[in-house]
Amino acid sequence: MTLGIIGGSGVYRIDGLDGAAWQEVATPWGAPSDAILTGTLGGARMAFLPRHGRGHVHSPSEIPYRANIDALKRLGVTRIVSVSACGSFREEMAPGDFVLVDQFIDRTRLRPQSFFGTGCVAHVSLAHPTCPHLSAAAAEAAGATGVRVHVSGTYLAMEGPQFSTLAESRMYREAWGADVVGMTAMPEARLAREAEICYAPVAMVTDYDCWHEDYGAVDVAAVIATLTANAEHARGLVRGLPGVLPEPAPCPHNCDRALDHAIITAPDAR
Ligand code: ADE
Repeated sequence: MTLGIIGGSGVYRIDGLDGAAWQEVATPWGAPSDAILTGTLGGARMAFLPRHGRGHVHSPSEIPYRANIDALKRLGVTRIVSVSACGSFREEMAPGDFVLVDQFIDRTRLRPQSFFGTGCVAHVSLAHPTCPHLSAAAAEAAGATGVRVHVSGTYLAMEGPQFSTLAESRMYREAWGADVVGMTAMPEARLAREAEICYAPVAMVTDYDCWHEDYGAVDVAAVIATLTANAEHARGLVRGLPGVLPEPAPCPHNCDRALDHAIITAPDAR
């Protein structure tokens, strides 16, 4: 049982792993974003993958999401805590805060969304797309670092790489009820569910997108400054996780059995 960590913008490595080694993993979906850093922390086996690659070389649309999830699965990962930067649509979700995302509105359109297709068709449930048990552990570990944590939130996944227009930002916030916006947690969540891996997305608020009249347009320099200021909270979250993880299996949310009733193709047709 290995705990997977996917690091987003500003989170390209984790420190303090015993027996740390970067491992290249091949998958049928191509190469993952980068080699995967494996080792143990607090007695827990860990596998860390920088989503954009070290040096931030993959844009959100070009990240090999299927290879990333497959590679983690091949390393024995059963649970993934994924960290990503996001903009906020809520005054109270301020830059620097962490949001435990539990719902998604997916507006991405250029990314393969599934491991399944011709030859084997499966329809997993995404009604509750994250693992509440793993998210509760992540909230506890994050809270212990002193950062302000919001335990629920709807993440609007956009294609990017440009930020939203003002009209889009207002629509997502006022009409669609999204709480945060980012470019990478989808299709990660879909694929983790298909791979029967518990998935807990931790969104680190870096800005108010562009709807907030007091702040204006999103500025990458300000995003990076907030991420850098929060790096210690992200590191503390990872360090604290092994001590608060729930029992590894079976997952009470059935994440590890998501395919049990999802495959519709007849066994003799596969
Ligand atoms: N990542 C960080 N801030 C963001 C924003 N405002 N929109 C989309 N992705 C983001």
